[in-house]
Amino acid sequence: MTWRLGVVGYPVAHSISPAIHQAALDALGIDARYERWPVAPADLAAWVAMLRAPDVLGASVTVPHKEAVIPLLDELDDSARRVGAVSAIAKADGRLVGMNTDVTGFGRSLAEAGYGPRSGVAVMLGAGGAARAVAHALLAAGVRQLSIFNRDAARARALAASLAPVAATATVEAHALDAPELADRLAACELLVNTTTVGMRPGDRILPPDRVPGHALVVDIIYSPPQTALLADAAARGARTLNGLPMLVYQAAVSFERWTGRPAPLATMFAAARQALA
Ligand code: ATR
Repeated sequence: MTWRLGVVGYPVAHSISPAIHQAALDALGIDARYERWPVAPADLAAWVAMLRAPDVLGASVTVPHKEAVIPLLDELDDSARRVGAVSAIAKADGRLVGMNTDVTGFGRSLAEAGYGPRSGVAVMLGAGGAARAVAHALLAAGVRQLSIFNRDAARARALAASLAPVAATATVEAHALDAPELADRLAACELLVNTTTVGMRPGDRILPPDRVPGHALVVDIIYSPPQTALLADAAARGARTLNGLPMLVYQAAVSFERWTGRPAPLATMFAAARQALA
């Protein structure tokens, strides 16, 4: 039997997950096809029912379904329960289990970039689905003061409140993106992470260039384009930078290992991702 896997999203045409996973499956000689599943929100329940077919091994979940899929699954693992978002679905004895691979993916990419907290002061831009996972990873990495700035301040406050149970020894604050506190926090931070979608269109800037801290590690979870305006500004000011490609590949690796029970061929996955983006 040829196993089936895939990524569900809407739209999903530009996802490079199929390239990453198919390359990994082929490299290990696993007889499986990784598909693209464009599914509108109204059709999500029917899609989840399809997943129960015995030839389906699992799925990746992307925007806008990461939260909406939760009530349709049989259970959540610890990562998905903590974060409140599902980025992959695996099967256990026929039950559909939601997991969140973004926390591990981001945490690993940050560690590999050499981030170890000194002051532990971090700024995160954005408070959407991706921001939730990033915030959990930042707190797990030892960030002690996390300032969240978002265009919609209420959404930032809701995220900060939801982090309270895991932020026992950390301070988490939330502001509007145009709040006066932003300048201070950027000047003081050792780590800046953009989780907003601003920068996906080349030239779009989430911050004016002169606000970007030159002394910090500046991370953008966007991987296409590989260097957003934020990262270009940061590099020009002497900052170390990291884009979203390692996060994407490492989160894919977590899912892959869960679905197949085999170690993920990381070099193959990175090469496939870079080729798909070239
Ligand atoms: P994802 O799951 O990829 O995080 P999302 O949940 O839609 O996607 O979140 C997108 C993030 O980008 C949000 O923080 C959003 O800000 P709002 O919560 O205020 O909508 C942010 N964002 C999108 N467009 C933006 C813009 N033009 N300026 C500032 N922030 C923007």
